[in-house]
Amino acid sequence: MGHKYKDIDCGAVRAADAGREITLSGWVATRRDHGGLIFIDLRDRSGVAQIVFNPAVNAEAHAQAEDLRSEFVITVRGTVNKRPAANINEKLPTGEIEIAATELIVLSRAETPPFEVDDDINVDEALRLKYRYLDLRRGVMREALQLRHSVVRAVHKYLDSNGFIEVETPYLTKSTPEGARDFLVPSRLSAGHFFALPQSPQLFKQILMVAGLERYYQLARCFRDEDLRADRQPEHTQIDMEMSFVTRDDILDITEGMIAEIFTSTLGIDLPSPFPRMSYADAMAAYGTDRPDTRFEMLIGDATNVVAGADFKVFASVAGAGGSILGLAAPGCAGFSRKDMDGLTEYVSRYGAKGLAWIAVNEDGSYGGPIEKFFVPAVLDELSQKLGAKPGDMMLMIADKTEVAQNAIGNLRLEMARRLDLIDPKAFNLTWVLDFPLVQWDEDENRPKAVHHPFTMPTPESLPLLDSDPLAATADAYDLVINGVEVGGGSLRIHEPELQKKMFAILRHSAEDAQAKFGFLLDAFKYGAPPHGGLAFGLDRLVMILAGRNTIRDVIAFPKTQTGTDLMTGAPDEVDQTQLRELNIKLG
Ligand code: AMO
Ligand code: AMP
Repeated sequence: MGHKYKDIDCGAVRAADAGREITLSGWVATRRDHGGLIFIDLRDRSGVAQIVFNPAVNAEAHAQAEDLRSEFVITVRGTVNKRPAANINEKLPTGEIEIAATELIVLSRAETPPFEVDDDINVDEALRLKYRYLDLRRGVMREALQLRHSVVRAVHKYLDSNGFIEVETPYLTKSTPEGARDFLVPSRLSAGHFFALPQSPQLFKQILMVAGLERYYQLARCFRDEDLRADRQPEHTQIDMEMSFVTRDDILDITEGMIAEIFTSTLGIDLPSPFPRMSYADAMAAYGTDRPDTRFEMLIGDATNVVAGADFKVFASVAGAGGSILGLAAPGCAGFSRKDMDGLTEYVSRYGAKGLAWIAVNEDGSYGGPIEKFFVPAVLDELSQKLGAKPGDMMLMIADKTEVAQNAIGNLRLEMARRLDLIDPKAFNLTWVLDFPLVQWDEDENRPKAVHHPFTMPTPESLPLLDSDPLAATADAYDLVINGVEVGGGSLRIHEPELQKKMFAILRHSAEDAQAKFGFLLDAFKYGAPPHGGLAFGLDRLVMILAGRNTIRDVIAFPKTQTGTDLMTGAPDEVDQTQLRELNIKLG
């Protein structure tokens, strides 16, 4: 006997079912009236099926169907029929059949939705977030959640078969140093004290190594109160891993296997093995960023030495002050107009560039543009060689402090690729970025700051530099970058208490401060810490890339807005005075 609500999914009915009596349930996607017949597209999680209400088949059901509106929830019983050849819809898996309804039951009525539940809608994201349950009814959103589920399943399977144990670490804990602000939770039982939500499970996973677990993983929610962007949320999920008795290359191998497995099992794509690797220094030099998008070339060249001696004041003074003149060759852009160039100059100014210099390489090999006259032919030839410019290309250059020039030219490179349509949207280009600096000077706080985090191991070659020149030291830290997005990062860790203390000293944490913040880790290290290391992938970012989306909000069921609010629930919200009193909190 049939089931009450459904014995088959809407999207699963096929021509082979012709003649069957079936029961379907779902949401009314569309209703069309045609010469006495009423057609309904009925949608459930699996897809849509077309239902026909024909008064000659069942007059009562037909009469009821007149009242149906979009998003009503209904059960339909009927007979599967093959559609006449002229009515076949080849775009739909169920396009060869329709169901002649013999019974209709309305389970829920629905108000007119604020937007159409359709893949191709053009509505404000705020509206989609407020009515997220309607947004998630759309096929594209459901597919993203299903993809996310498949990724998670592949991760569990791969890590389980490689000897990893999943361990949960606390959410109510102490601050972890990942460089963002903490979300704090007041303690009722310890008045005036606060838990911090973890920015990552970093300290716990290292302690699990001291505890002898050897291979840990967790799909961990991480909380960071930072300025939000398309690929940042205040809470995100990490595929967090840590291993003992491993080298850097062991860690890279194991995690490459996991990423490869995810791509094969979800997209059927076999990634080239091993993944490309490049040093942080090379990434910064050729791409202007530690998140290189390697889907296209247009590499950055350092023109400082080539043009420093020329009679062009801007370049000479920047070079004289120890800055850099960085450039690239925009293919086929020699004919760009003054207006095009003004637009690009405005674009790079958003990244702090004070100007944009350009020299066209004409088709006949001569040079053009307003500043061409400042350079002798031999310098122009050397410059075009340095930047890889060919006839028809435009050489674009930015002179500034090296970091500013790198950032601006790196972003200009991406912008030119977008304008020139150089990026294959279907390509997946992965690269490891290795040998990050250990520490960097923090201008705001006027002290060195850990580039990854304070538990990161210096490379063996760098150990002597810790005393003499820590800013020149490199770390055994690595990021995985896909299509210009940092999807994961980690490091080998320090496991000797003395070295860890030295690191804290370099970062100008006083011994007391270090003990107060991380004493439990330093204490644990006194009782036999194995060499260990690990990394964490941003699950949201990984799924975003696999799904070909532009924001992680599209692969998170209930994300926050750019300003950190939840438009559906209205969080964050005010709370009762009694609740505040219990927590000993007075609002100022
Ligand atoms: P890290 O801070 O690099 O390392 O974070 C690891 C990865 O998490 C993702 N990610 C984010 N995704 C969405 N929104 C955010 N706000 C956000 N912040 C980070 C990124 C990033 O590569 N404990 C270390 C890992 C380790 O050393 O093992 C850590 O958290 O994809
Ligand atoms: P100016 O001498 O300031 O009129 O600049 C001459 C050209 O150099 C203009 O095209 C400016 O956009 C460009 N320019 C000025 N400052 C810089 C800079 N820091 N880097 C690159 N080009 C610059």
